[in-house]
Amino acid sequence: MNQMTPPPKIEIIPSSAPFSEAQRSWLNGFFAGFLSEAPTPLTAEQGAAVMEAPAGDDDGEAPWHDQTIPIVDRMKLAEGRPLRRRMMAAMAQQDCGQCGYNCHDYSEAIASKAEARLNLCVPGGKETARMLKTLYEDLEKTPSTKSPAGEPAAPAPPPIAEAGRSRDNPVPATFVSRRLLNKKGSEKETWHIDFDLSGSSLDYVVGDSFGIFARNELGHVDQIIALLGASHTTGVRGRTLREVLTDEVSLSPAPDTLFELISFITGGAQREKARALAQGDDPDGDAATLDVMAALQKFSGVRPHPEAFVEALEPLQPRLYSISSSHNATPGKLSLTVDCVRYVIGKRRRLGLASTFLAERIEPGEEVRVYVQKAHGFALPQDPKVPIIMIGPGTGIAPFRAFLLDRRATGATGKNWLFFGHQRSSCDFFYSDELNAMKTAGLLTRLSLAWSRDGDKKFYVQDRMREVGRELWAWLAEGAHVYICGDAKRMARDVERALVDIVAQHGARSTDEAVSFVGELKKKGRFQQDVY
Ligand SMILES: Cc1cc2nc3c(=O)[nH]c(=O)nc-3n(C[C@H](O)[C@H](O)[C@H](O)COP(=O)(O)OP(=O)(O)OC[C@H]3O[C@@H](n4cnc5c(N)ncnc54)[C@H](O)[C@@H]3O)c2cc1C
Ligand SMILES: NC(=O)c1ccc[n+]([C@@H]2O[C@H](COP(=O)([O-])OP(=O)(O)OC[C@H]3O[C@@H](n4cnc5c(N)ncnc54)[C@H](OP(=O)(O)O)[C@@H]3O)[C@@H](O)[C@H]2O)c1
Repeated sequence: MNQMTPPPKIEIIPSSAPFSEAQRSWLNGFFAGFLSEAPTPLTAEQGAAVMEAPAGDDDGEAPWHDQTIPIVDRMKLAEGRPLRRRMMAAMAQQDCGQCGYNCHDYSEAIASKAEARLNLCVPGGKETARMLKTLYEDLEKTPSTKSPAGEPAAPAPPPIAEAGRSRDNPVPATFVSRRLLNKKGSEKETWHIDFDLSGSSLDYVVGDSFGIFARNELGHVDQIIALLGASHTTGVRGRTLREVLTDEVSLSPAPDTLFELISFITGGAQREKARALAQGDDPDGDAATLDVMAALQKFSGVRPHPEAFVEALEPLQPRLYSISSSHNATPGKLSLTVDCVRYVIGKRRRLGLASTFLAERIEPGEEVRVYVQKAHGFALPQDPKVPIIMIGPGTGIAPFRAFLLDRRATGATGKNWLFFGHQRSSCDFFYSDELNAMKTAGLLTRLSLAWSRDGDKKFYVQDRMREVGRELWAWLAEGAHVYICGDAKRMARDVERALVDIVAQHGARSTDEAVSFVGELKKKGRFQQDVY
């Protein structure tokens, strides 16, 4: 860890003062903050330590539980551990809930054979699914009569979830409307989306996410049917091919099983290529660009039978969105804040499935299958008087809009501080009217903004946090809870590092002490994240 000698702790509050040890430590840090000087830089090692997961079960820590570590390195960190722990390391480490579990519980469920689906980790994609398949084959080789080394006894199968409370039991919700949140000149396309839940009686609490089963674009489906040389009325699984391709299967990354199928029905160099792709190799350097349609185009002479083709595809996975409304404020209504995913590969325009479904394909009054994904460890403090600091650039604002609406609806008196940032102040200030009104009304105690593309240099939320570090530390010293929402890969980690720096500088702590301070906040549930 850190080679620096920690500075002596400053004792301002005498030990005879009527405070507990913990309170005294807080107050010492708080007052020391006003006497401190420059920030202490955080080493990469300390950064990693901050990201380390809380202690696991019998294996101790889960050092691979960091979404920024590539899978190869995660697997190295898990070498020599029991299979279920290696299975956890194979997952994307976001604890995002898309699989219906967190990473730890999903791996436990697979290892105990309570869960047979190995392809549920959306952010992990094909790499995770392949690694899980290999590890599962190892599990299968283990005699079933005794528990494999280090594996726990199989738990009882999970109970069937209440309607609308799990990806396995969705209910219909009615799409009400969409409204573009960016103004002219923006490079982004982010939508405020409204749903009506009155038909399903579904409710939620702020911090929860909403799962959506989107539908593929019909034009895209029809192009695939044409590439198969089939008719869209061909019967498959008791429905038409067009229906099945629209709402049952994923047309995004071409799965290994599709390449396997292609290799079975072709020969020569084509067969070798398809085989290589099925094994995760990249013979032509284009594997990452091959969605289902691109795969059919690559092997254009090959026309799998529609039934076999559908069998070879992955089931369509739901997508999660942080809820940006409060059921306490608007019962029966639910809002989302959705950034639209569109990009071009070669000459073809590619569409993110669910974001473009919400942005352009679903019409007001139409129903879609949905569920509420309960948040684990992302919620308002139980005590309504506790101050909160919310850091949510981009769509990361979603749950914080919900928090604010909820605190207003319930009359919570705790102070609220929001850090929001995006590209440009003129066109990317989501919910600006609402937020400014909340500020005027006193609900939003502080609103700190950071525009990354207004100036010559990037300026991010964590830069703003550093500028107001002293006040931020004062809020922490008062017991504020801190929340981060948005991009998992870079933003969340950078913001956390900024927090460590602030604690070190204004709390008069060494960097190592600041790292453990932030770790403690996490353990106590005072530092929570919803990142994706
Ligand atoms: C708990 C949770 C909360 C979330 N909350 C929100 C939220 O509030 N708002 C929000 O907008 N999103 C949110 N997301 C993300 C959301 O679930 C989806 O992942 C996102 O909308 C993209 O889904 P999609 O179906 O539109 O795109 P997909 O069909 O899943 O396509 C996305 C994939 O396309 C590929 N891709 C994207 N851009 C490019 C590119 N330029 N070049 C090459 N490939 C590319 C990548 O492989 C990417 O993974 C959340 C996720 C989680 C897990
Ligand atoms: N794969 C990627 O490279 C990538 C990148 C961004 C977002 N995403 C995904 O895109 C989706 C939606 O994104 P979004 O609309 O919420 O907004 P976003 O694209 O994440 O951007 C929001 C704001 O955050 C800034 N930002 C970029 N890097 C940052 C960092 N390290 N620390 C702090 N702020 C940073 C952006 O600045 P600038 O853009 O000007 O740098 C922008 O001002 C999410 O799913 C997110 O995970 C993916």
